[in-house]
Amino acid sequence: MKDELKVGIVGLGRGAGFIRPFTTITETKVTAICDVDENRLNNAAQQLNIEKRFTDYEKMLEDDIDIVVLATPENLHAPQSISALNAGKHVVSEVTAATSIEQCYELVRTVRKSKTKYMMAENSCYSPSNVLIKNMVRKGLFGEIYFGEGEYVHNVKSLHHDSKGNPTWRYYWQVGINRCNYATHSLGPVLQWFDERAVTVCCLGTGVHTDPEHAMEDTILMLCKTASGALIKIRIDMLSNRPPNTYYSLQGTKGCYEGTRGFGDKQKIWLADYCKNGEWKPLAEFEKEFMPERWKNPPEEALKAGNVGGEYFELRDFVDSILHDTNPPMDVYAAMDFTVPGLVSEESIANGGMPVQVPNFREID
Ligand SMILES: NC(=O)c1ccc[n+]([C@@H]2O[C@H](COP(=O)([O-])OP(=O)(O)OC[C@H]3O[C@@H](n4cnc5c(N)ncnc54)[C@H](O)[C@@H]3O)[C@@H](O)[C@H]2O)c1
Repeated sequence: MKDELKVGIVGLGRGAGFIRPFTTITETKVTAICDVDENRLNNAAQQLNIEKRFTDYEKMLEDDIDIVVLATPENLHAPQSISALNAGKHVVSEVTAATSIEQCYELVRTVRKSKTKYMMAENSCYSPSNVLIKNMVRKGLFGEIYFGEGEYVHNVKSLHHDSKGNPTWRYYWQVGINRCNYATHSLGPVLQWFDERAVTVCCLGTGVHTDPEHAMEDTILMLCKTASGALIKIRIDMLSNRPPNTYYSLQGTKGCYEGTRGFGDKQKIWLADYCKNGEWKPLAEFEKEFMPERWKNPPEEALKAGNVGGEYFELRDFVDSILHDTNPPMDVYAAMDFTVPGLVSEESIANGGMPVQVPNFREID
């Protein structure tokens, strides 16, 4: 194993934010960046003092980097992951993993053949409250869990056109197809709590009310049934005129959790063994006892990375999977579990909410 893993980052909007955590991880160094937008590329290179800059992604793959970080438009994630894996690079891909089922088959088959690692960077699985709930579920505090919710309500209409009025990738891939697009932030953590995948989805929408131009209905609801029979409700809305919020909930036989919907809400929890009078308690009261140790006492490296959660731990875990040759935390199968329900929901919504099977990518040839 090399002493230092060299990192190349592609797509310098969101991608620029990965530079700091990789800089603090002692075994990695960002040596190359790439963007088709030369202004963005040169600004980032100057600000962040990175020597190698590329406008051609395939040229960057010829360089001696070990890890490629993809923060490009969603429709490019699968083809660019496949090129990088074929070039012998480890891949961290932004969400979602793919924009079609065909891309998913090709990606999974490429990862299987590859000697390098692939991870989808679903950072909501690393938000402190989602990590805490996962740990409490594993310790049995909720009893048998059977219902969960995830919501992503974020009006991003301002990002659907560029400054010249041309449609951006979000216009086509986030709101240009009528299905439960961009659902991984909502579904990922909830599936991790259940430790299973969705086997069937039913999807319905509200119709288009805010702007006749886009194909995606304003609010989309996707119901996912897991193999054990649990139910997960996902709401995605990137169009309605309102403030944003991200919400999660969980129900089990011995406890329940409700996240926040903004405006001063507190994350709250009720557990039969801890709340004897049937009252809610703030989730924060359970951190001392149940938050994993590294979150309570983050290492120096994490503090230097600028936050104690999210991207740092996610990337640290990925680098460790390379160094120790273990499975990355959100491997290609988890990436499929989080991404594919949203893709197949297109068939359900087109057929009045008909239940649609979700292919199990662990079992494909
Ligand atoms: N995990 C999160 O919380 C989170 C947040 C924001 C965005 N994202 C994801 O990050 C990705 C980027 O989002 P963004 O908001 O930065 O979008 P953006 O449009 O601001 O940035 C994308 C960049 O990719 C560049 N690009 C496009 N095609 C390219 C190519 N072929 N080669 C090299 N560069 C290319 C563009 O010039 C642009 O600079 C998306 O997939 C989005 O889903 C994730």
